[in-house]
Amino acid sequence: MSETISVGLGERAYDIHVGAGALARAGELLNPLAKGLVPIVTDSHVAKLHLPALTEALNKCGIQSRAIIMAPGEVSKSFAGLERLSNALLDLEVDRNGLVIALGGGVIGDLTGFAAGVLKRGVAFAQIPTTLLAQVDSSVGGKTAINAAQGKNLIGLFHQPRIVIADTALLSTLPKRELLAGYAEVVKYGALGDAKFFDWLEANAAKALSGDSAAMVQAVAHSCKMKADIVARDERETGERALLNLGHTFGHALEAATGFSDRLIHGEGVAIGMALAFRLSVHLGLAPGQDAERFTRHLKAMGLPAAIGDIPGARPSVGELIRAMAHDKKVTDGKLTFILLKRLGEAFVTRDVPLEAVKLVLTDG
Ligand code: NAD
Ligand code: GLY
Repeated sequence: MSETISVGLGERAYDIHVGAGALARAGELLNPLAKGLVPIVTDSHVAKLHLPALTEALNKCGIQSRAIIMAPGEVSKSFAGLERLSNALLDLEVDRNGLVIALGGGVIGDLTGFAAGVLKRGVAFAQIPTTLLAQVDSSVGGKTAINAAQGKNLIGLFHQPRIVIADTALLSTLPKRELLAGYAEVVKYGALGDAKFFDWLEANAAKALSGDSAAMVQAVAHSCKMKADIVARDERETGERALLNLGHTFGHALEAATGFSDRLIHGEGVAIGMALAFRLSVHLGLAPGQDAERFTRHLKAMGLPAAIGDIPGARPSVGELIRAMAHDKKVTDGKLTFILLKRLGEAFVTRDVPLEAVKLVLTDG
């Protein structure tokens, strides 16, 4: 089973190919874009597991490639990582008509997209995402970035990939915790804009995460379709695209307060953040309590954390969390932006949230 989704961005339009086994088609899919030697940027975990299959798929179609292997984790999404990668790309003499492939999770995709965007004022890149988070979110939409000492993703640009190849079979090697964390971004689409998808996930997500290939392809393809449609309408996040940040104001603050450590990985922060956004919406009289309860029940049933108390170790203080939120990119004119919910399947953006209500949710949630 496979699906192709188009991201309708005019001259920057591209396709997302979702399927179990899609990697084997990488040669034919990339052939029209590949010119000369093609660098494959990946990390050492993914290189061991999936680089040989990609190299073979490219070889079959006569595409010569060379791997650039980065250290796994956020450490590579840094000025130092960018310098190393840019030098490696320059040493391979990638020219303006060249293509760079990102094979990996969100870290490799964000770093490679950024490096490709600034290399010789911009070269084309292809996304081959290997985590669930990257397949349903970070590989689509063209947000690329590295981190700065002042915060995550603060140095970046919009640079759309030319193609996305999401092979759901690659997810079978992903640690269970990473798979579940990526699922938070899947369920986000149901919560923010598609109640029927949420119903479907309640019935099918456990199956998808435990290896049912057709269910996983459907979950990834539907998520990509929702993101593609939003990005096509609002590429630069002047409006609707902000809905994709559901749970992220709270989630990023929780990640910052836990030191971006193993205590809480990104998708887990988003899961708790979405549950808190729902509680805040109920507290403000905007959403029905039973929708928030149903949402939280589903997160818990899937094995995701749904409250601040679910984070192992000392509970971050309310003051610490508020300070972290104030540093977030989602602050404009000193006001916090929140994505709140009217009901399951309908989110909206607001900058009109009393600080006292936020503090209450951070105390109780
Ligand atoms: P990641 O890239 O660090 O990958 C997580 C871990 O899984 C790494 O250790 C990696 O080596 C390993 N891994 C990757 N694929 C594997 C596979 N198939 N089998 C076994 N191990 C595998 O993390 P992530 O969760 O994919 O991405 C997080 C990053 O994405 C963050 O930096 C975040 O800021 C960014 N992000 C960007 C966007 C965007 O729109 N650009 C959206 C969401 C998140
Ligand atoms: N992950 C949020 C966005 O792409 O806008």
